[in-house]
Amino acid sequence: MASLTGKTALVTGASRGIGRAIALRLASEGASVTIHYRRDEEAAHSVATEIGTTQLAKADLSSADEVRTMFSWFPGNSLDILINNAGVWGQTPLGSTSEETLDAMVDVNLKGIFRVTQHALPKLKDGASIVNISSTAARVGNKSGRSLYGATKAAVDALTRSWALELAPRKIRVNAVAPGYVETDMTSEFFSNRKIREDAVERSPFGRLGNADEIADVVLFLCSPAAGWITGQAINVSGGFVV
Ligand SMILES: NC(=O)c1ccc[n+]([C@@H]2O[C@H](COP(=O)([O-])OP(=O)(O)OC[C@H]3O[C@@H](n4cnc5c(N)ncnc54)[C@H](OP(=O)(O)O)[C@@H]3O)[C@@H](O)[C@H]2O)c1
Repeated sequence: MASLTGKTALVTGASRGIGRAIALRLASEGASVTIHYRRDEEAAHSVATEIGTTQLAKADLSSADEVRTMFSWFPGNSLDILINNAGVWGQTPLGSTSEETLDAMVDVNLKGIFRVTQHALPKLKDGASIVNISSTAARVGNKSGRSLYGATKAAVDALTRSWALELAPRKIRVNAVAPGYVETDMTSEFFSNRKIREDAVERSPFGRLGNADEIADVVLFLCSPAAGWITGQAINVSGGFVV
């Protein structure tokens, strides 16, 4: 029997990229997955069709009202798995970043995940599993003006540790997965620069970038009974980019 048969899951940002790969992977192991998206309805529908579900949930995670409305449709005590995947990446050079840009990134990458998890709490069953998608950027510095992104992901790791302890009385496990560079829409423009791409490949011990399925496999493991004794951890999934 598949390891997640009979389980229900919500994956945020599942319309494309890493979230899409996670949704497909959880579904392939028998989970009934709700596909969350923000604006790319067509892409979300296509993922839903691929896994044979009609469960779609739309919300801009930077809006407290939209997150609240989204969860009002979920019955209480109905979710076994929550994957906090949706996120944004961007440049925030120290010398030139506006307040609006700062707020926009914090609103999705930090406040968004907090809002979602807060509203998910009464919907999560005891013994549920939460996986937060962090980044190796939380652990390594970079000189290309992406300090705030790394800081928001370091915050995700901090939330993971504390929520693991806060939710332990309900036997809810909380872990994080920290991908290294993965080719998705998020990084496509960045890696269209040949020099940047070559540098990233050069820094990788395995000499290549990662792919979304490699991240999804680790998320699946953390949601499965095989990871029942793991909580409060953040696992680098970067092919040794960060060791
Ligand atoms: N790609 C990498 O190299 C890499 C490395 C480390 C960590 N990560 C992390 O992995 C996660 C997924 O990244 P990805 O590469 O798959 O990105 P992506 O291809 O750009 O996809 C981002 C997803 O997040 C959703 N999203 C963005 N802003 C949102 C908002 N305000 N409200 C609700 N949903 C929102 C998007 O929904 P719509 O399509 O509907 O807009 C989309 O489904 C992110 O947390 C990212 O930080 C990525």
